[in-house]
Amino acid sequence: MKVLIATQKPFSAAAVAGIKDILTQNGHEVALLEKYAEQKDFVAAVADAQAIIVRSDKVTAEVIAAAPKLKIVVRAGAGFDNVDLEAATAHGVVVMNTPGQNSNAVAELAIAMMIFMARTQFTPATGSEIQGKRLGIQAYGNVGRLVGQKAGALGMKVFALDPFLKPEQIKEAGAEPVEDINVLYAGSDYLSIHIPALPSTIGSIGYELITKMPKGAVLVNTARKEVIDGAGLMKALEEREDLRYITDVMPDNYEALREKFGLRVFATPKKMGAQTAEANMNAGLAAARQICDFFATGCTRFQVNK
Ligand code: 3PG
Repeated sequence: MKVLIATQKPFSAAAVAGIKDILTQNGHEVALLEKYAEQKDFVAAVADAQAIIVRSDKVTAEVIAAAPKLKIVVRAGAGFDNVDLEAATAHGVVVMNTPGQNSNAVAELAIAMMIFMARTQFTPATGSEIQGKRLGIQAYGNVGRLVGQKAGALGMKVFALDPFLKPEQIKEAGAEPVEDINVLYAGSDYLSIHIPALPSTIGSIGYELITKMPKGAVLVNTARKEVIDGAGLMKALEEREDLRYITDVMPDNYEALREKFGLRVFATPKKMGAQTAEANMNAGLAAARQICDFFATGCTRFQVNK
């Protein structure tokens, strides 16, 4: 089968070599499209692909329609909001993710972001310590739990909310359960967001929630920019001079935010949460193995469009 690795933000060279090894040893042919400039380059590259491995690349209805032989798309990572699941399903294309494979990298970045803000973006201004502070984790999945564990080891008090977990499950996984989102925000000196971008979550974190946060609080977003209501965030930061925001997903109005709020806001120039050698390797190799299993045995474990 022909497998296309299409990554605008490439995997490390070692991860690409590992992916190629697995696929070729299993009799597949590999094509590589990296750092492509425009979406039309991606569309043009899929014509004869039977499988595609992507990261946050946009697998639109157009991409799927341009790939008549396509059987499977694996998003090497957790969030699959970049894949048009409806179009894939309509064309009989299986879509998978590789849950958990890059979680540690994202969790480490969330911790780093808290410390970066606590220490005033590494400027000489007097900062604070995260030890003893309350951390609220919104969604206690693979990344959220790792953030919780690490934060606990650093002496933070960890609280978590997850609509898909029972309070005892959250407790067992090391955090104090909180069932009301308003209570979570109101009791968090640091709030780390780990929800996916879904119709129900897009724009769900806005003025009301953000202004519930206590004095001096920091909102940390290593999830998706879409879950934030940009206008609400702006208003909250305007009214509450003590609040701060750090994100791994640059907001559309970042320049305006930075100009207005200076060191109270920070965004990485390009999403980098999962950009470690380890995460590239783990997610990339998992994607390759899932494709081999799918073609060899029909295995659809990790399918997200069932
Ligand atoms: C994910 O959903 O797995 C992360 O957001 C990482 O995305 P990336 O592979 O584009 O870095």
